[in-house]
This record gives sequence, C-alpha cells and structure tokens, in this order.
Amino acid sequence: MDYANQHRPVLLGMALAGLRVRADGIYVDATFGCGGHSEAILQTLSSKGCLLALDRDPSAVQIAQERFRGDARFAIEHACFSTLEEKITTRGWLGRVDGILFDLGVSSPQLDDSARGFSFLKTGPLDMRMDPSRGESAAEWLSHASTDEIANVLREFGEERYALRIARAIVAAHKKEPLTTTERLATVVAAANPRWERDKHPATRAFQAIRIFINQELGELGLALPQALAALAPRGRLVVISFHSLEDRIVKRFIRREARGEQLPRDLPVVAAAFHPRLREIDGVVRAESAELADNPRARSAVLRTAERVET
Ligand SMILES: C[S@@+](CC[C@H](N)C(=O)[O-])C[C@H]1O[C@@H](n2cnc3c(N)ncnc32)[C@H](O)[C@@H]1O
Repeated sequence: MDYANQHRPVLLGMALAGLRVRADGIYVDATFGCGGHSEAILQTLSSKGCLLALDRDPSAVQIAQERFRGDARFAIEHACFSTLEEKITTRGWLGRVDGILFDLGVSSPQLDDSARGFSFLKTGPLDMRMDPSRGESAAEWLSHASTDEIANVLREFGEERYALRIARAIVAAHKKEPLTTTERLATVVAAANPRWERDKHPATRAFQAIRIFINQELGELGLALPQALAALAPRGRLVVISFHSLEDRIVKRFIRREARGEQLPRDLPVVAAAFHPRLREIDGVVRAESAELADNPRARSAVLRTAERVET
C-alpha cells in the first residue's frame, strides 16, 4: 500500500530537528497515524535505537503492523496517549526516553473514509470516534444530549458564536427523525448558522467541536503532557504539533509552566535553583514554510512547539 500518499506528514523536517534524533536513542511517536513521522525517525536510528508508537485507532495499528513488520527496533501499541506513562514504565523506559512526538488531531485516512463519520463533505454514519471499539458515537451522544450540553460543546470546543441557536436546531431535527448521518447534521447546522465565514463550511466549527468532545481530545492532551515529561531523559525532547488554538494553548501553557518551575509566594527569599524548572522552551512557535503550504493544505493550521527536559 502507498502509505506515504495516504497521509502526508506535516512539518516533518522541523519535527525531526526538534526531536534531535540520536542513532542509538529511545523515541516515542504518540500518534502513529500512517507512520510518516515514525518512518523518518526509523531512518535515523541505528540497530540499537528503539521507537515505540501509540495510536488509539485500530486501523492505524494495523497500518503500523504491515508497514514496519519485522523491524525489531519498532513496536506499536493500541492505546490512548493518556496511558503513555504506563506503556513507558512497562518497558523500563521511565526517565530514559530521548524524544516524544505528538502530531495531534485526525489523520487523512480518518477524514477520507466516509464510514468513519468525521467529514461534513462525505455522507456516512455519524460516528467520529478515533477508536470505534470504545465509547459513544456522535449519533449516540446527540440522541440523548440536551440543548445546553450541545451548546456548551459547540461553544467550548468549536468557539461557535451561534452555539445555542445551532444546538436548538440539532435537538429539533433529532426529534423529527434521529440524526444518524454526517450529511444530515451538516445540513441542519448550515441552515441554523446565520454567519457563513469565507472559505469555511458553515458546519466546520460544529464538526470540530463534536469530534473533540467525542474523543475527549483536550482532556487526553492535558493528561499526556506531564506523563511525557516524566518519561523523558535529561535533555530529552518533547515535540508537539497542534492544529487549532485550543490544543496549542494547552501545550504552550504546559511548557511555560514547567519552564518556570514551582510557583512560590513572590515575597519569599528563594534562590533561582529552588524553582526547579523541568523544561526549557526551544525556538517558540514553528509554522510550515510556503513550499509545504503549497503542497499540503493540512499544514496551514499546524503549529509546532519543542521543549527540552532540563538536567536535574
Ligand atoms: C495527525 S495523525 C498522525 C499522523 C502521523 N504523524 C503520520 O505522519 O502519519 C493523528 C493520529 O493520532 C491518533 N490519536 C489522536 N488522539 C490520540 C490519543 N489520545 N491517543 C492515541 N492516539 C491518538 C489518531 O488516531 C491519528 O491516527
């Protein structure tokens, strides 16, 4: 299978530079997807290097098993990255990992496969679960969610100005006939949305919000970042690629907080060493350059941040 064309890895060169891959190092790709970043890491590793990949999507795990079958340096786990510390501890790698990559959000195969129900451009079952074997689908949630619950999700995870109006339309439509397809949800949302932004489908924000909620994406990230820090060796690198401001805000705040160290009362006479910063921010925000933007539209909203574990 042509994996390289299934999902084009975003900010590949910058992610590798951020990870500063050492040939004999231990690395984690927390979001395997189609394995574009994993492949590039493996190309730099010697026979002594190791790469553990995680993905919550069973299809991604299958791709990994096919793509890197027989490569003793590589292992894949079907797992959420909020279980990172457990996976690392089992391998005896806590405090020893040289680099961890998070390339957040959905992959191209997830968006392109209408049966997964992520896209408002394709008719399919209203599912949106990255791991279809667990939890509620979007259709199941919408079948019992109240107007207020839906409005809160649209507001919080989609920054949707017309959240209440759209939520009311969703609940009314569901009462007439259960909402089970992406196409019907997109039509209902578009009809209820009074503000159509340029170059943006009127259901974009609602679909993003429901997807983030169904997969608990921000909660997962908040749980995973401290675990990644615990996993890293001194001078180990954390690289995170985010695709919207909600994710990036969590990453930015985490890195800044860990770079500042413990927050002690301002008037306490303490020396700098007492603050124990655990991370050092590297290079601030990195975005795709024009050549990649022209080539890969997904790169438009990508933001990469890198931090290094401070030696203790
Ligand atoms: C943008 S894609 C990664 C693409 C990959 N870097 C590549 O080059 O092919 C994100 C992947 O992360 C997975 N994912 C998202 N959230 C996750 C989580 N909390 N735990 C584990 N995997 C997750 C998704 O299932 C998806 O396959």
